[in-house]
Amino acid sequence: MISRAMHIALILIPVPVILLTGACIDEGPGMEQNMELKSEEMIMLPEPKTTGERSVEETLLSRRSVRTYTREPITPDHLSQLLWAAQGVTSKDGFRTAPSAGALYPLEVYVVAGNVDGVPDGVYHYRTGEHALQKVCDGDLRRNLSACALHQSQITDAAVDIIFTAVFERTTVKYGDRGVRYVYIEAGHAAQNVYLQAEVLDLGVCAIGAFYEDDVAGLLVLPENEVPIYILSIGKV
Ligand SMILES: Cc1cc2nc3c(=O)[nH]c(=O)nc-3n(C[C@H](O)[C@H](O)[C@H](O)COP(=O)(O)O)c2cc1C
Repeated sequence: MISRAMHIALILIPVPVILLTGACIDEGPGMEQNMELKSEEMIMLPEPKTTGERSVEETLLSRRSVRTYTREPITPDHLSQLLWAAQGVTSKDGFRTAPSAGALYPLEVYVVAGNVDGVPDGVYHYRTGEHALQKVCDGDLRRNLSACALHQSQITDAAVDIIFTAVFERTTVKYGDRGVRYVYIEAGHAAQNVYLQAEVLDLGVCAIGAFYEDDVAGLLVLPENEVPIYILSIGKV
């Protein structure tokens, strides 16, 4: 059973269970768990904090990429802050924590969770509007994700891995080919937000660009028009 100790509300909306044929069902390590897609399972995240103790300057000074983590779990509050920093909605008009060319928001955010208090291991899609996690599939897929990224060990050791994906046409429809670079620039903005947020939470982050896109797309069961572009491994230090 899922721990209820946190300020986290787990809403299970019963819907027909759809069996996947994508890479969430594969024979790789860590795949022994139930690999059913329960597409409407939602976890509401705690409200993000919008005040803090440490200055931007101090945070910039101390930020580093960190590849070694303790095995302590992170909390739902941590996950909430990290996702809010990545792409949280900060205005009633839908503007977000990171800038976006034409406010077209081509980025989507996924979480491969393996060590978060009270959150079942699994792959989740971050729903920005609801500040909630929507389950993609069950099971600890950190090792599988690492296998998509040259077996970089920080991905397996992390409490969570955040993956930014992009739906390029949201931006290229307005900006043409130039929109492609805008999307990658936006991923940089969003990732830096996560780095700085993690730093004030005493969490370590490592940006990862070395991975096979098709393999990660399969693991996340992405639709055809969505491409993974950046991974961040995150854990306690
Ligand atoms: C686009 C990009 C891709 C990166 N890919 C990887 C990666 O695949 N594996 C890794 O260990 N670090 C990766 N890094 C982290 C860099 O190695 C790191 O930022 C660099 O060594 C500078 O260290 P610092 O971040 O601590 O200042 C990447 C960084 C960026 C910006």
